[in-house]
Amino acid sequence: MKKVGIVGWRGMVGSVLLDRMFAEGDFAKIDPVFFSTSQAGQDGPTFDGKTFTLQDANDIKALSACDMIISCQGGDYTKAVHATLRENWDGYWIDAASTLRMEEGSVIVLDPVNRPVIDKAVTDGVKDFIGGNCTVSLALMGVGALFREDMVEWMSAMTYQAASGGGARHMKELLTQMDLIGKKSAPLMDGNILELDKTIGELLAANELPSENFGVPLALNLIPWIDSPLENGQTREEWKAQSETNKILGRESNPVPIDGTCVRVGVLRSHSQALTIKLKKPADIPAIERMLSEYSEWTEFVPNEVEVTRQKLNPRYVSGTLKVTVGRVRKMNLGDEYINVFTSGDQLLWGAAEPLRRMMNILL
Ligand code: HSE
Repeated sequence: MKKVGIVGWRGMVGSVLLDRMFAEGDFAKIDPVFFSTSQAGQDGPTFDGKTFTLQDANDIKALSACDMIISCQGGDYTKAVHATLRENWDGYWIDAASTLRMEEGSVIVLDPVNRPVIDKAVTDGVKDFIGGNCTVSLALMGVGALFREDMVEWMSAMTYQAASGGGARHMKELLTQMDLIGKKSAPLMDGNILELDKTIGELLAANELPSENFGVPLALNLIPWIDSPLENGQTREEWKAQSETNKILGRESNPVPIDGTCVRVGVLRSHSQALTIKLKKPADIPAIERMLSEYSEWTEFVPNEVEVTRQKLNPRYVSGTLKVTVGRVRKMNLGDEYINVFTSGDQLLWGAAEPLRRMMNILL
């Protein structure tokens, strides 16, 4: 059995990964080795009657003994060990962090969308397989059919990104803010709405809500800025849309222009996006709806109708599941080639852990 090292398994993405590996029986197919950057020698997870002793995640020799390593430890860890490890190791490195994503020798994995790119890379001897940015992966799980048929001239993505994209502490901060807002508003609920609005508005404005992680309250608010600034005025998150999408699709030499505004909203763990897509030809809406609904077993098409849209085209419906819903499909006033699409998907599943788990299985 292949020896598979797992680093960062206790963190949020790592925990979701382990849950999925248990659910799919993956541990029966591998000889797992659990690594830790800080608790080597201590007990790791226990299952099937066995407690795994943690190995040192900074011990290059111990890492080199693995056939494959899956890291959910983060970019700093990748920067610290990957290059040294590669000096004498040609195992497979599967990573959730962005560090190696745009390296020439790596492939971004999202197999329902780019299995041919992955298969070719494996044949060509590529050893670094990296999970994509969550927003990019979720957009492609939603509208990958249109890219597969090369129908897209350009795309604009306006995002509604959950707190989980920042990390576990961000999720807790949002919930704490909501709790404090609830406590402040409860005694005023029977009174005048303007008084209630003023009280809560003052609470938000007064910097009293804990917001070390987001910088400002996210509850009852939004933040149209994710990640670091670039010189062209984009944020790094916005830059990833075009660069990563085209790398996933293996069309970096003939890229589809993609841009938009990435916005953090007060949602826990699922990202949504409003897409404006300029097609190469006038849109045939029934044909597009059919293509979207048939695209993958996880892509769920939602007709452009009020009740089903309310029920399904949102974080509430997709969170904790592998479903990626796609709907609000219609021609826009902008012209016959322009369509509107909305999509939602779980940021920790298809957005992070699931492509890594599936890549491990492809390699096995
Ligand atoms: N960068 C994403 C976000 C999460 O902040 O929502 C990881 O892909």
